[in-house]
Amino acid sequence: MQIQLTAGQKPAGQTLIIPVAQTDELANVLDALASRLNLPASALQHDFKADFKEALPVYQPDGRKIYLLGLGKEPSAMIWLRAFRDLFFRQKNRLTETVSVDLSDFDAEFIESVVLGIRWGGYDLKLHVTDKPQPGEFYGDEGHLEIVIAENQQETAQPILARADALATTHRQMLDLMNSPSNYKTPQTLADWAVASGQQYGYSVTVFDQAGIERQGLQALLSVNQGSAHPPVFIIAEYKPEGQPATKKVGLVGKGITFDTGGISIKPSASMHLMKSDMGGAAAVLGTLEIAAKLKLPVHLIGIVPSTENMVDGNATKPGDVIGSYLGKTIEVIDTDAEGRIILADGLGYMVRNFKPDVLIDLATLTGSVIATLGYHAAGLFSNNDDLTAQLLRSAKQTGEQLWPLPLWDVYKEDIQSDVADLKNFSGKPMAGAISAAKFLEVFTESHPAWAHLDIAGTAFADTEFGTQKNATGFGIRLLLDFLRNL
Ligand code: BES
Ligand code: MN
Ligand code: ZN
Repeated sequence: MQIQLTAGQKPAGQTLIIPVAQTDELANVLDALASRLNLPASALQHDFKADFKEALPVYQPDGRKIYLLGLGKEPSAMIWLRAFRDLFFRQKNRLTETVSVDLSDFDAEFIESVVLGIRWGGYDLKLHVTDKPQPGEFYGDEGHLEIVIAENQQETAQPILARADALATTHRQMLDLMNSPSNYKTPQTLADWAVASGQQYGYSVTVFDQAGIERQGLQALLSVNQGSAHPPVFIIAEYKPEGQPATKKVGLVGKGITFDTGGISIKPSASMHLMKSDMGGAAAVLGTLEIAAKLKLPVHLIGIVPSTENMVDGNATKPGDVIGSYLGKTIEVIDTDAEGRIILADGLGYMVRNFKPDVLIDLATLTGSVIATLGYHAAGLFSNNDDLTAQLLRSAKQTGEQLWPLPLWDVYKEDIQSDVADLKNFSGKPMAGAISAAKFLEVFTESHPAWAHLDIAGTAFADTEFGTQKNATGFGIRLLLDFLRNL
């Protein structure tokens, strides 16, 4: 699908989408629309309320189809995105080859949500369906999206469109990686993706294989890998802006568990299949690196992804085992299902020792506890730095990828005190699990003054219109990009 911006022209598409917000002006807006569409003035007042996702098709005598698309009362970026994603997903096979979207009454800023929503609306989960239906005319190779903007928005609109396109392309690949079953996605798959992306967009990617991981002493990662038939990888991606000074050096660490059985502390089977998605942190980190490089953001970025499966096997780490780590600290493994914090211990440790970033952020599908706490509508935010917290909350609000702060108080350290090792990976109690996990990670940041941990277990894989099962959201990419662009 090609995308094109136009201004001051009649929309070219046989299908035209006109978004409408539920403002105090709605009655006037609908009157104006009625006269533009040659409808009786009262018709729209009666039939269209501009509720979120409400879509009213109106046919014109010349055969064109117009959709009025409701945005509800508070049309944030996420609302725009969802409204367009929903309409395009539902109508994908009824769209004409060229579709126009009329944004001439709106700020060019919304192009990002519109483009991502439309590109995402064409997504499907049918990767392994044998008689996969052909994409409709619009989503096929010949498809065209025309975005009509006001003439005074032309200059600002172009870079926003470029950004939206870069974002949508990478975002989609991350959805595919997340949704991919674990027999098609091993740690090496993540490494291969990162290496290819680095080559294409000009940033450096180093991958430690099993031997490299052993040489580096990434013992915590090795211990989680012990039960797996697939070797682990440790991915280090680094993007440096060329010919411009970097605003800051930002270190991102993402959990890359390509399947989490729980290990010997095995999970119940009912939802275990969803654990193919236990690499949502890795997807957010890798996706963000690629987009930052595409857009040449003025920030020095380092992304680290420790990746392995967590499997059950005669060689697997057992509850009670004591393991080492990159920083030399010993960990008593009370529960092998608390494996994310173990591999992140090495990811964080390696990051702080070797890169000393100004800002350190990790993302992980870390605990069921954060889902019990916040449900599926926000990720847990843990940070020791109030400025960083404020910046991240600002980006969360802006993008609609919501975060909510949870405490890092030292009283919770008792939960990870071990009798036999420097610390243990689980308190043994069914409470405050997301917090004690964060306290565990904190130990491996070596008191970094600007660290944030995002527990994205509830937000990375969620219910959507795309399927009957939970599926990928790409959570974190838009959030991190907004954060990086505002550093
Ligand atoms: N990957 C899971 C967390 C998770 C649960 C992500 C549900 C997405 C949906 C993590 O490795 C895990 O198993 N956590 C345990 C920790 C516990 C054993 C201390 C949990 O939260 O139950
Ligand atoms: Mn687990
Ligand atoms: Zn896990």
